[in-house]
Amino acid sequence: MKKARVIIDKDFKIGKIDRRIYGSFVEHLGRAVYEGIYQPDHPEADEAGFRKDTLALVKELNVPIVRYPGGNFVSGYRWEDGIGPVSQRPRRTELAWRTIEPNTVGVNEFADWAKRANTEVMMAVNLGTRGIDAARDFIEYCNHPGGSYWSDLRIKHGYKEPHNFKVWCLGNEMDGPWQIGHKTADEYGRLANETAKAMKMVDPSIELVACGSSGRGMPTFADWEATVLDHTYDEVDYISLHTYYGNRDNDTPNYLARTLDMDDFIKSVISICDYIKAKKRSKKTIHLSFDEWNVWYHSNESDKKIEPWSIAPPQLEDIYNFEDALLVGGMLITLLKHADRVKMACLAQLVNVIAPIMTNGKGGAWRQTIFYPFKDVSNSGNGNVLRLVVDSPKYDSKEFTDVPYLDTVAVNNEDTGEIVIYAVNKDLEEDMLMECDLRGFDGYTVTSHTVLEHDDLKAVNTEDNQYNVVPHDKGQSLLEDGLLKAKLSKASWNVIKLKKS
Ligand code: AHR
Repeated sequence: MKKARVIIDKDFKIGKIDRRIYGSFVEHLGRAVYEGIYQPDHPEADEAGFRKDTLALVKELNVPIVRYPGGNFVSGYRWEDGIGPVSQRPRRTELAWRTIEPNTVGVNEFADWAKRANTEVMMAVNLGTRGIDAARDFIEYCNHPGGSYWSDLRIKHGYKEPHNFKVWCLGNEMDGPWQIGHKTADEYGRLANETAKAMKMVDPSIELVACGSSGRGMPTFADWEATVLDHTYDEVDYISLHTYYGNRDNDTPNYLARTLDMDDFIKSVISICDYIKAKKRSKKTIHLSFDEWNVWYHSNESDKKIEPWSIAPPQLEDIYNFEDALLVGGMLITLLKHADRVKMACLAQLVNVIAPIMTNGKGGAWRQTIFYPFKDVSNSGNGNVLRLVVDSPKYDSKEFTDVPYLDTVAVNNEDTGEIVIYAVNKDLEEDMLMECDLRGFDGYTVTSHTVLEHDDLKAVNTEDNQYNVVPHDKGQSLLEDGLLKAKLSKASWNVIKLKKS
């Protein structure tokens, strides 16, 4: 059995977790909205048409914020199409995903759904085909109390109280040539800054996210962030990061090592933010909104066969396997390790579209494999992330060298007195003994050690076999004289909870 040594010291804090790093994303894409969260003709629909089975699973995931309405979708969206009497709303060709958008769900319906799901909305404005005017009207409609054209129209539509959406994205992936209204960094930076100014004139209490690169592999990466922040530094609060991984060549050790890429990506964006801070002699710090992250590749081929111009086709319906859950666990650990700078993040997405939750339009709703690590962390990852000293055996893979077999992080919840350790053993052949020297935590005992493991890395959960990949609570951990000895099974996701006895 391999062995890893970890030092966990109460006083070495990275930062307090902003719960919004457990956010998610619902885009008008595929069956995310229609048949995902909303399906009035389904037996599980409530009086407003929202699926109660989906809502129950979203609540289990404990998602504090949901990004909406896109994604690529937002770059062609006219938000006014989604307000007022549903029967009068236009059906539009939706160019990003080449579907028909019926606009049955718009901003008010989504706000209603978010309330039911106990979550906040991270709203986005269209900076692809539109600009300052549409954005200032939209925020007036959503956030202004009343006494103006757009806010009074909202009241007329039955929403007396403003929605008061606090977080707004200034467009989406505007660096991407596929984006409707794609822009250069200077074009986008200028527009984002002027739009931000106007939006903050309407509601100075909002927080704004500028578009970073749509991926670290983009040719304009780094220059894009620097230029955009040069234009927007004083007006925005966050810069966005997006990343998706896939095991396309079926090389699992290399695939699981991608957490190193994510870590480097975050470090690079922090450096760029701080470079612009130095250049501007600013006292303000820009934080990171990792508002799209996940595994995305299983559905790539089947998506090519979908005929255009239907409503809610089954697009981006990745069926996640067990190894995807290991990577998602590793990505969550990576986000937590940067809790001082990553203040928001969105698992992309939430329902049906590259999602932890799947629904059948004629059946039920169920949990994909990746549901479990996300649920674990969003429910127990509260408090301060601790800076660990980790000495793990390492391996080399096709694209990475010195990959630690062990990915781990610890969270100290000072309110409840609980310490939670999250750990992935990436070794596909051997179990690992993780020895943690717990410094400054006297009198603690292990309260639980849950494990997600499976003999088959490619095992999936389907509607007919929903509980194929599920965690168990038979993990082996022992704490004696300040030393925690935990057995981490080969290829496993582990959650170890400790409490003062
Ligand atoms: O999440 C799916 C898509 O991925 C989003 O619409 C876009 O922003 C990204 O490229």
